[in-house]
Amino acid sequence: MKYQAVIFDLDGVICHTDYYHYLAWKKIADKIGIAFDETINNCLRGIGRMESLEIMLGARSEEFSQEAKRKFAEEKNDFYRRLLKNMSPKDLQPDVKNTLDQIKAHRIKIAVGSSSKNAKLILKQIGLENFFHAVSDGKNITRSKPDPEVFLKASILLGIEPQYCLVVEDAVSGLEAASAAGMDSAAIGDAVNYSIANFNLNKLSDLLQYLVDSKI
Ligand code: G6P
Ligand code: MG
Repeated sequence: MKYQAVIFDLDGVICHTDYYHYLAWKKIADKIGIAFDETINNCLRGIGRMESLEIMLGARSEEFSQEAKRKFAEEKNDFYRRLLKNMSPKDLQPDVKNTLDQIKAHRIKIAVGSSSKNAKLILKQIGLENFFHAVSDGKNITRSKPDPEVFLKASILLGIEPQYCLVVEDAVSGLEAASAAGMDSAAIGDAVNYSIANFNLNKLSDLLQYLVDSKI
């Protein structure tokens, strides 16, 4: 097998929490009175909370103190976490669960590589607590994607060299992070619009064929 591990992004790959990020940022943008839509939201995929706020504020960033920005980020996160609290294992799509089960059955290690500080809460809500061999998230990194730190930490936690890891991402920042980490990548969702990944997926289970084809 060419790949000994697959590192999955969480929001927008394992579950639909990318939409909850959108709803939560939209609420803050509407309150401030700035434009926010799916296109701007796509630029925030994989980017840490405070960095996302800065991108969202754009030229209006100068109008707000650090304290005001901290409060916006806190309010966004409070609203976002309320949405997460309503999640359950029903929010885990059968195609995603089957894919993860089959990869594990082939004795390939699986990890989460997410910039989110809420990753462990989400995994618990959808019934995947303790399911992955490693979880590298926003709580153990100092720089969010496109920095490779989160994926390199996952590779260390798994004990598998970067060249044997495949990253699955819905964010262009995540594809760049994988490349900087020396890892191959597969794109899903918005990330298929960029020609950075080694492979594009329509649905997560397409990954199974890719893993079989890349057997060497
Ligand atoms: C992921 C999401 C981003 C989010 C970041 C931080 O990378 O794709 O949209 O900003 O995590 O998430 P957090 O839950 O810590 O605010
Ligand atoms: Mg994502």
